[in-house]
Amino acid sequence: MHNTILGIESSCDDTSAAVIRDGILLSNVTASQSVHEAFGGVVPELASRAHQQNIIPVVSEAIRRAGIDKKELSAVAFTRGPGLLGSLLVGVSFAKGLAQALNIKMIEVNHLQAHVLAHFVSEGLREERHPKFPFLCLLVSGGNSQILLVKNYNDMTIIGQTIDDAAGEAFDKCAKVMGLPYPGGPHIDKLAQQGDELRFTFAKPQLKGYDYSFSGLKTSFLYFLRDEIAKNPDFIEENKADLCASLQKTVIDILMKKVRRAAEDYNIHHVALAGGVSANSGLRQAFTDYGLQSGKEIYIPKFSFTTDNAAMVAQAGYFKFLDGIFCDFNVAPYARVSV
Ligand code: KG4
Repeated sequence: MHNTILGIESSCDDTSAAVIRDGILLSNVTASQSVHEAFGGVVPELASRAHQQNIIPVVSEAIRRAGIDKKELSAVAFTRGPGLLGSLLVGVSFAKGLAQALNIKMIEVNHLQAHVLAHFVSEGLREERHPKFPFLCLLVSGGNSQILLVKNYNDMTIIGQTIDDAAGEAFDKCAKVMGLPYPGGPHIDKLAQQGDELRFTFAKPQLKGYDYSFSGLKTSFLYFLRDEIAKNPDFIEENKADLCASLQKTVIDILMKKVRRAAEDYNIHHVALAGGVSANSGLRQAFTDYGLQSGKEIYIPKFSFTTDNAAMVAQAGYFKFLDGIFCDFNVAPYARVSV
């Protein structure tokens, strides 16, 4: 008898479904929403409508690619929150309908925990490495920047977090000021590869402990551009690559400083990276370098598991399934929640 879990993710602007059987990922299908590009950010009402259109084809495709029949599913795991309420509602309602129709169990998943547990997704390959408990995880996305102490699959504590903007938000807002499309993070990453990261310097916060702040950097970047454009209207166009490289370096320096300090203070040997911003090539390199310099074991997620995806939701659901943790049909999504 197999344990076969369908995972559903719909917390923001990606509709995703994945199937995990006996701990091995069989499929992971994601439909992204291009409708938001024209607005420079995710429009919640459009996101929930697009989820409604995408969810049936995405789930059907995930089941088809897994090579199973839906009647073989043991449980459906879904993101309950945090996220956009309208978007979450689509995934939660669909999961309820499917669970009722197939008479199977439902498992609610915390989106932030799922990002961390993406490190345990197994595709059955020989060279896979998974973090050992306890480990630290830097979780950086469009909505979160946190350092987590992960003691077990379901036992995570936030030891530091942003007091204002998230790292991804800083990337996206600064990109917007430079006229780059949404989401700006990947564009900054690409341009930064041709730029001089030491050309410009921007404000770095001086916060005690392990907390982050990115609103000062955003403002410093904005004012710097305003002053330079007053002198040369083509300043951004002429210096885009250097601006991106210098901005990216500043964000990475801010993130890494606290990760290093936390790993030393907590005497942790295993350090992982997670969330959408973990796709950033500079941050991935900084983590690799940190591992080489410090001797710590570093875990960087595969690109396909960095941004929102259902494989991580199915994985989190699989662990709960093994522990017999299910929810009932009264479950409602929540927009805000901690790990
Ligand atoms: O985790 P995610 O897909 O969504 C949530 O926020 O939950 O993260 C999206 C964020 C966006 O801010 C996007 O700009 C950023 O991740 N991002 C990147 C890169 N790829 C995605 N930021 C910097 N460099 C990248 N390569």
